Amino acid sequence: MFYNALKRECPLQIDPFKALVGPRPIGWISSLDPDGTANLAPYSFFNGVSDNPPMVVFSSAGRKDSITNIEQTGEFVCNLATWDLRDAMNVSSSGVDSEVDEFELAGLEKVPSEMVKPPRVAGSPVALECRHTQTVHMHDVNGDELKYALVIGQVVGIYIDDALIVNDRIDIASAKPIARHGYMDYSVVTELFRLERP
Ligand SMILES: Cc1cc2nc3c(=O)[nH]c(=O)nc-3n(C[C@H](O)[C@H](O)[C@H](O)COP(=O)(O)O)c2cc1C
Repeated sequence: MFYNALKRECPLQIDPFKALVGPRPIGWISSLDPDGTANLAPYSFFNGVSDNPPMVVFSSAGRKDSITNIEQTGEFVCNLATWDLRDAMNVSSSGVDSEVDEFELAGLEKVPSEMVKPPRVAGSPVALECRHTQTVHMHDVNGDELKYALVIGQVVGIYIDDALIVNDRIDIASAKPIARHGYMDYSVVTELFRLERP
């Protein structure tokens, strides 16, 4: 099949876009509001977008607490969402008031970060400590403003659970990272393969 996405002519009952662009890594974003209340939420329109320096981006569909906090305080942490933490990750996506600390809601412990104020998630084996560099407000091909904004940050500190480090490499499959697809679907990485470049 083919359909014209501009005209929203997709004959399927549910828009398949998110099922087609996947698996998407999940940035499990912790931040603090100016009063120090912690916030935690998953974002799967998320990725690493450069490595020198390391930079990450996530897309916020409207003014959510994460983007508000990050713009006010300038800092956030991207925690790795794993198979073991999948239920807590899901709970942390609840649409609750900004005063609610989703660490507490999800029964998660906080661990102080090294270089930024927002804490990382205890039990998550990787945490990227970030400083906000830019927010890009998106528009469509007609120039019409969208509700989406890209939050870009530079990774200034990286926590890795020592158990993941094997022969100077990261054994990421042992962390069982989870990724997002469409609908309510996720995948879990348990196996890698290698391809040498030509
Ligand atoms: C796996 C997963 C991925 C999500 N990805 C996004 C996303 O990329 N962008 C977005 O705006 N919301 C996304 N959401 C929804 C937010 O997590 C949800 O709106 C949350 O309440 C936002 O929290 P905040 O207001 O504390 O930032 C996602 C939810 C889940 C469960």
